[in-house]
Amino acid sequence: MARRLTLTEFIIEEQRMHPGATGDFTGLLSDIALAAKLIAREVRSAGLGDILGASGSTNVSGDEVKKLDLFADETLVNVLERGGHLAGMASEEREGPIPIPEEYPAGKYVVLFDPLDGSSNIDANVGVGTIFSIFGRAGEGARGGLEDLLQPGNRLLASGYVIYGSSTVFVYTTGFGVHGFTLDPTIGEFILSHDAIETPERGKILSANEGNLSLWPEGARAYVSYLKEEDSASGRPYRSRYVGSLVVDFHRNLLHGGIFLYPEDSRNPKGKLRLLYEAAPLAFVAEQAGGLASTGRDRILDVVPSSLHQRVPLAIGSAKDVRLYERFVRGDRP
Ligand code: AHG
Ligand code: MN
Ligand code: MN
Repeated sequence: MARRLTLTEFIIEEQRMHPGATGDFTGLLSDIALAAKLIAREVRSAGLGDILGASGSTNVSGDEVKKLDLFADETLVNVLERGGHLAGMASEEREGPIPIPEEYPAGKYVVLFDPLDGSSNIDANVGVGTIFSIFGRAGEGARGGLEDLLQPGNRLLASGYVIYGSSTVFVYTTGFGVHGFTLDPTIGEFILSHDAIETPERGKILSANEGNLSLWPEGARAYVSYLKEEDSASGRPYRSRYVGSLVVDFHRNLLHGGIFLYPEDSRNPKGKLRLLYEAAPLAFVAEQAGGLASTGRDRILDVVPSSLHQRVPLAIGSAKDVRLYERFVRGDRP
């Protein structure tokens, strides 16, 4: 049986298709993979040390910060700042841009990340993950300042995520399809396990926090009740699956088909999820796998950010499901 490629081997092969590639990008993705392995190790043994539970503070978005949020954030910054590939970074857990210390060389990329997505689930052994976005610098001037960080998703060079679940999985795209790798703990390498992922055109799964249904706008409520009606010809009723870790709900739907929905509501009038750390990077993955991502009105990848922690309503997943949701939002239901 042929040996399967490692993540590094796969990226090197993929980068050979880019004329002028210097290996810098390969180095950056390898740094992210290293940080992911360090985080995976900590998540796996979290119950043994004093790392479960709250840190006692809240972040910019008002979420309670867990100790593992801080560990993941510090690990990513620590690994990425010394690699020489970055001009700057931003994290869901930090208010402003994260500069690269002067002692390290600056590179031509910027990375934005949600260090630990779904962290409220961690104490109960539910899957969590890391989500990342990679852009080129927007201009020659600022070294990783806001101009470099506030770019729309349609300028992403790469994005992806790592899930710390029943296994550790690394999924990414550079615009040439979506590829998934599973960590083989016996050799400490991510091995190609899901090549060229294509998401079903239509799914059977609805993932939404329906506890908020009464706070949603009419279009979202009507859409969800439509999915619950019985009609075997259109595959209804849909199954309901909501873990509460976006990255895990997204990954399951990517493989099996379905829609993840987090609309704006009366408490979060702009939605809850963050454009740069959550919605845009997953939107790039979704589109590269043949799916779609929308605010309900606009393509997520075309939303131009005006601040680092900007929130956005999100409907993401199988193309036909997301298109139908947009019809409900427009009031044009079938
Ligand atoms: P994070 O843990 O990075 O703060 O993100 C939590 C997000 C997302 O993962 C999840 O889908 C959503 O919050 C859950 O929100 P509700 O508890 O409102 O359903
Ligand atoms: Mn998150
Ligand atoms: Mn987070």
